[in-house]
Amino acid sequence: MTKTWFVTGAARGLGLGVARAALAAGDRLVATSRNPDSLAKAIDGDPERTLFLPLDVTDYEAPRRAVEAAVKRFGRIDILVNNAGYGQIGIFEETSEADIERQFETNVFGLMRMTRAVLPTMRAQKAGHIINFSSIGGRVAFDLCTIYGASKFAVEGFSVNLAKDLESFGINLTVVSPGFFRTDFLDPSSVRLAGDRIADYQPVRRKFEDLYQGMNHRQLGDPGKFGDVIVKMAAAEKPPLHFLVGSDAVGYVREEIAARSSEMEAWAEISAMTDSHDEHA
Ligand SMILES: NC(=O)c1ccc[n+]([C@@H]2O[C@H](COP(=O)([O-])OP(=O)(O)OC[C@H]3O[C@@H](n4cnc5c(N)ncnc54)[C@H](OP(=O)(O)O)[C@@H]3O)[C@@H](O)[C@H]2O)c1
Repeated sequence: MTKTWFVTGAARGLGLGVARAALAAGDRLVATSRNPDSLAKAIDGDPERTLFLPLDVTDYEAPRRAVEAAVKRFGRIDILVNNAGYGQIGIFEETSEADIERQFETNVFGLMRMTRAVLPTMRAQKAGHIINFSSIGGRVAFDLCTIYGASKFAVEGFSVNLAKDLESFGINLTVVSPGFFRTDFLDPSSVRLAGDRIADYQPVRRKFEDLYQGMNHRQLGDPGKFGDVIVKMAAAEKPPLHFLVGSDAVGYVREEIAARSSEMEAWAEISAMTDSHDEHA
């Protein structure tokens, strides 16, 4: 069956990879961007199967308007790809409240807003698949990633709990955690860096800012292959709740699970000391 995909942030990076792969698979595509002109330049799609729409996920009304336009054109939405997001990188103490709010407004509240806008359509269909973009930074801690990581851990928490709300409607949910991919993510056009006000942090800040800037556009992951893998995953009869993309992501999470498990076991006896042994409790 031909599916209708709705992708946020589809004009570049991982969103563009997914948009192109969905069209290549013969599906229909609703591609959205804050700058819709950039969609026409990036996506060479069959006009019969493609709709370009403006969408800033931080605009309270925009998701609902975009969903209405998508349903008017294609009659349904099968897969929502909540890709839009960016990295607020830096030391927590050096990051302003305004920058923290902006990060959560986009990566977390924007994603929830988009999800809320699409759910009535998916509930009526009694089918659908929501694909939320977390990050390897939503599973594992990295230097200078306190705020970005917090936003992506929030996406994880939101997603696994929302999946329970949706079980009875036949709506699948997958939270995707990509490793490091060769997009604009670390480029000045996307990433936002905190200030540099506190001398104590200077060595660590400089070390990791230089490291991340050195990785810009040289990361391991290929966004085109990423798109193909997402299309393959979405075609599964039972898609995964968690999906790691990239061998680096698998490696980081494997180590994290082992470390967490061994710490849990080391403390398990003390953890259990709070149990009440009163049988009437
Ligand atoms: N690349 C990686 O290594 C990596 C790793 C883990 C997770 N991720 C996640 O993957 C997603 C895509 O990142 P990317 O690597 O493709 O980075 P990117 O090349 O910088 O693309 C970011 C995308 O997000 C969109 N966006 C940002 N703010 C938006 C807003 N307020 N409303 C609508 N769209 C907005 C941008 O749209 P415009 O074109 O309108 O600017 C752009 O399409 C993000 O959620 C990111 O956190 C990336």
